[in-house]
Amino acid sequence: MLVLLLFLLLATLLFLLTKHQYSYWNRRNFPSDPDTNIPCGCLASVVKHEKSMGVALYDAYLKSKSPFIGIYLLFRPAVMIRDAELARQILIQDFTSFHDRGVYVDEKRDRLSCNLFSLRGQSWSSLRQKLTPSFSSAKLKAMFHTSDDIGNKMIEHLNKILPDKGSAEVDIKDILVTYAIDIIGSVIFGLDINSFKEPENKFRCLVHKARRNNLINANIGMLIFLCPFIIKYMVRLGFENKTAIGLREILKDTIEYRERHNIVRRDMLQLMMQLRNTGKITEDDDNWSAKSNTPTGEEKEFTLDDIAAQGFIFYIAGQETTSSAAAFTIFELAQHSDLLARAQNEVNEVLARHNDKLSYEALQEMPFLDLCLQETNRKYPFPFLSRECTKDYTIPGTTHVIEKGTPIVIPLLGIHRDPQYFNNPMVYDPDRFSPSNPNYNASAYMPFGAGPRQCIALRMGKINSKLGLVKILQNFDVEVMGKREIIIDNYSVGIQPKGGVKVRLSKKAQSSN
Ligand code: HEM
Ligand SMILES: *[C@@H]1O[C@H](CO)[C@@H](O)[C@H](O)[C@H]1NC(C)=O
Ligand SMILES: *[C@@H]1O[C@H](CO)[C@@H](O)[C@H](O)[C@H]1NC(C)=O
Ligand SMILES: *[C@@H]1O[C@H](CO)[C@@H](O)[C@H](O)[C@H]1NC(C)=O
Ligand SMILES: *[C@@H]1O[C@H](CO)[C@@H](O)[C@H](O)[C@H]1NC(C)=O
Repeated sequence: MLVLLLFLLLATLLFLLTKHQYSYWNRRNFPSDPDTNIPCGCLASVVKHEKSMGVALYDAYLKSKSPFIGIYLLFRPAVMIRDAELARQILIQDFTSFHDRGVYVDEKRDRLSCNLFSLRGQSWSSLRQKLTPSFSSAKLKAMFHTSDDIGNKMIEHLNKILPDKGSAEVDIKDILVTYAIDIIGSVIFGLDINSFKEPENKFRCLVHKARRNNLINANIGMLIFLCPFIIKYMVRLGFENKTAIGLREILKDTIEYRERHNIVRRDMLQLMMQLRNTGKITEDDDNWSAKSNTPTGEEKEFTLDDIAAQGFIFYIAGQETTSSAAAFTIFELAQHSDLLARAQNEVNEVLARHNDKLSYEALQEMPFLDLCLQETNRKYPFPFLSRECTKDYTIPGTTHVIEKGTPIVIPLLGIHRDPQYFNNPMVYDPDRFSPSNPNYNASAYMPFGAGPRQCIALRMGKINSKLGLVKILQNFDVEVMGKREIIIDNYSVGIQPKGGVKVRLSKKAQSSN
């Protein structure tokens, strides 16, 4: 009897607590999502695997018209910023009240979690400053030949799988993911890999596990974003991130090898070794030396763990984004024969001017492809930006206060597909970005984020997606197909196309390479 009573008491308490938690926005008189779903808020469909997180947030965006709304991410009250101008204000002018992302990071116990994306406050700002010189134009130019090399291996591979006559269907996303992974393996991890020839190489197998779309990865991805404390406890209980540890081992071997043999390679790893050994990455774009100028054995501030943490986040942040941009562009061009012809002509013309050599400079001379990539990054962005409120904030022009600690969501997919900002948003129209006659609301366009925490590798991402795209247009004909839309996989955070991105390619009548 007593047990039953106790149980009932507990259940009632839990019920009241939940009720209380989910009345947070009503109690504060804050505009909020009218049909709040207990106990998962606007992510109920994600928990049931009926939608991806990006699409669930898009749905919440569509349900409201208010410039900002209170929502519940699982049981956490959060603010969704719907208005583009207000979003910019938060990301740029009022950055000091929103300088963190609020995702899982544990500086004391888990150095491998201390990457640029997750770090907070002063630690973030100091690391961002240190890493910035490694993404300068001159450094990227020095790394260009590596990407070019990998692009050629992709073409070799396509030449092998395509018939000599006629076309064949390929999953272009899958091919470009391999391309992007090899660029990161090479430029960031300093490895000499060819995953087109050896798909089972150590690096690819290791990272492949982390990007599989399944229930476990989908849930862990969500927890890192929404419930950092749960991951924190898992780590304290001895949970280890096997992928991160494996990558650290690979890096350790490569670094030791370079140091033992005095090898200097012009890549990101070399620059991170420079940071570790000398305390900074030099602004001098010709200096790639990582020789320590202090006695060895000294405690280093930037350690192997830190190199591994950055390498890993560069992998996560770089491969999906870079490959999607190129793959979705080909997918859209294949549905618009006029645009395809313009893209094809531009590539042919520029290459003719450059003796058929695709150099870094030649790549800069293709303005129409830039418009196409801009349009692709509009229609298929990473679906949301996130911040955490780091200081109580009164929303300008209102009396509504966002409390310190509240997660902020900026639903990019919703904003980028809102007819208020972009006419006929589902129509692929690169010319809306035409510099002489732009036809869009510039405040609403932020595929790389905005403000001090925008993508650090924006230029690198643009170069590599453009390079992959040009390589394919240079070497193959893309077959025109009927109109269709991507089907977004349910087990993903971003826009993961279910079943890949299928297009038909054929070899050119007389291939020029
Ligand atoms: C087309 C390619 C890419 C796109 C569309 C893209 C997009 C983004 C976006 C939307 C953000 C969040 C910005 C914000 O919150 O304001 C971001 C951050 C970031 N990206 Fe990229 N990215 C791309 C390529 C890359 C590559 C190649 C790398 C690494 C080599 C990279 C590394 C990062 C890092 C480290 C951050 C966190 C920056 C910080 O918090 O200081 N990204 N990216
Ligand atoms: C996602 O789940 C919903 C609901 O179960 C289902 O109707 C839909 O086909 C699924 N979508 C994909 C791409 O699997
Ligand atoms: C762009 O959108 C913002 C946010 O809604 C709005 O304040 C601004 O007036 C718009 N700009 C133009 C040129 O329409
Ligand atoms: C391992 O860490 C990376 C990035 O830090 C993350 O993306 C991945 O989901 C983590 N894996 C697990 C199983 O926690
Ligand atoms: C190269 O840069 C490092 C790091 O800033 C510095 O310690 C070293 O003296 C520089 N070497 C040359 C030759 O300029």
